[in-house]
Amino acid sequence: MSICTPFNCNGLNPISSKSNTFKNLLTSQFISQTIPHTVPLPSLHLSQSCKANRKRFQLVTASAAPALESPKTSFRSKNPKDINVLVVGSTGYIGNFVVKELVRRGFNVIAVARERSGIKGKNSKDETLGLLSGANACFSDVTKLESLEGSIECLGVSIDVVVSCLASRSGGVKDSWLIDYEATKNSLVVGRKFGAKHFVLLSAICVQKPLLEFQRAKLKFEAELIEEAERDEGFSYSIVRPTAFFKSLAGQVELVKDGKPYVMFGDGRLCACKPISEPDLASFIADCVLSEELVNKVLPVGGPGKAVTPLEQGEMLFRLAGKEPKFLKVPIQIMDFAIGVLDFLVKIFPSLEDAAEFGKIGRYYAAESMLIWDPKTGEYDADSTPSYGNDTLEEFFKRVLEKGIDGQELGEQMIF
Ligand SMILES: NC(=O)c1ccc[n+]([C@@H]2O[C@H](COP(=O)([O-])OP(=O)(O)OC[C@H]3O[C@@H](n4cnc5c(N)ncnc54)[C@H](OP(=O)(O)O)[C@@H]3O)[C@@H](O)[C@H]2O)c1
Repeated sequence: MSICTPFNCNGLNPISSKSNTFKNLLTSQFISQTIPHTVPLPSLHLSQSCKANRKRFQLVTASAAPALESPKTSFRSKNPKDINVLVVGSTGYIGNFVVKELVRRGFNVIAVARERSGIKGKNSKDETLGLLSGANACFSDVTKLESLEGSIECLGVSIDVVVSCLASRSGGVKDSWLIDYEATKNSLVVGRKFGAKHFVLLSAICVQKPLLEFQRAKLKFEAELIEEAERDEGFSYSIVRPTAFFKSLAGQVELVKDGKPYVMFGDGRLCACKPISEPDLASFIADCVLSEELVNKVLPVGGPGKAVTPLEQGEMLFRLAGKEPKFLKVPIQIMDFAIGVLDFLVKIFPSLEDAAEFGKIGRYYAAESMLIWDPKTGEYDADSTPSYGNDTLEEFFKRVLEKGIDGQELGEQMIF
């Protein structure tokens, strides 16, 4: 584990003269065209310590940028050890699996993090460094373009690929736009400025039917990312839209174990998903870094096996726990009523905006499937939802029943 300073960043590729080309391109064209409302990119005034760091860093860096690069093959033809991957959202649930998988595959990973990471900043700086073991931790503020830019400039390295696993931890309206759009956009702008030719975005399958603010924020970024690749053929993207993560289905394991009923909306068949394990999803995201087949595509992805409804998940849990099935069926109309009340109140008390949004998020996941949406039939289609990986929900439930939920904690809100 290392904090990325010139003293310990061996293996990262130094910035090449090519990056200056991107610097010009991005400052003059891309930023002004695509994010007119973000802060203008500041000129870089490196501090003395930053300059000194960079100097020392270049001394300790062994690998050099390739002499000749064609835009499409520039980094894909390199060995992973010569490829610098910037990961933002590195301390998140999926982001951390992604960091570990990229490190395992031998990439040079620059993991951007806050000094206090995790839900409500529960991880200290040392714990954060521990989480990012094997990567070069870079403490910065992704919500501020100039901060992120300064941090990467200070490293004196070029970036080949950006992987974003950023997500609003609350799903609140303003936070969604700040993280799922603005901060993610900052990572694109800064990545491009320092040479990135490819951007892998962790999005969500639910953006197909956008009714929530975080979905709209993600879609806006997706559209701008695609636009950028259309504008510059030397740049590409992979947009990964997973179905439900295992952790999102683990909320009732302890209840069932304790003999409580399994709670579901309607008859438990209102929605279904093809859940994917975190390591399998991380592996798919890592594939997106190099695979030409996954370039310039929107990639919905689920786990192995058939789609499961909440009723089937509950039945599976009772069977594995060796308990008699007991279900508590909650009419979905209860949520509609609560949302109606909150929507009314928010007009009088705007501070209730997030509470109303959380109600809508709950309603969405109680009724909408995490599968491919077919606009022609107006239905979700389990068969056309791609499967990836080997881990099954049944094995996961077994493990959580035996060993507990530790390490599988949900976020502040259980959102997608
Ligand atoms: N849950 C599901 O079943 C599911 C299914 C499909 C898709 N998805 C999508 O997957 C994505 C990631 O989910 P996840 O569960 O891995 O997310 P997560 O655990 O909540 O992680 C969020 C990441 O974003 C960072 N972040 C949030 N606010 C920040 C801020 N103000 N400043 C700096 N960094 C900030 C967090 O950093 P800190 O650690 O410093 O807070 C963390 O690294 C989301 O886009 C979600 O929509 C989820």
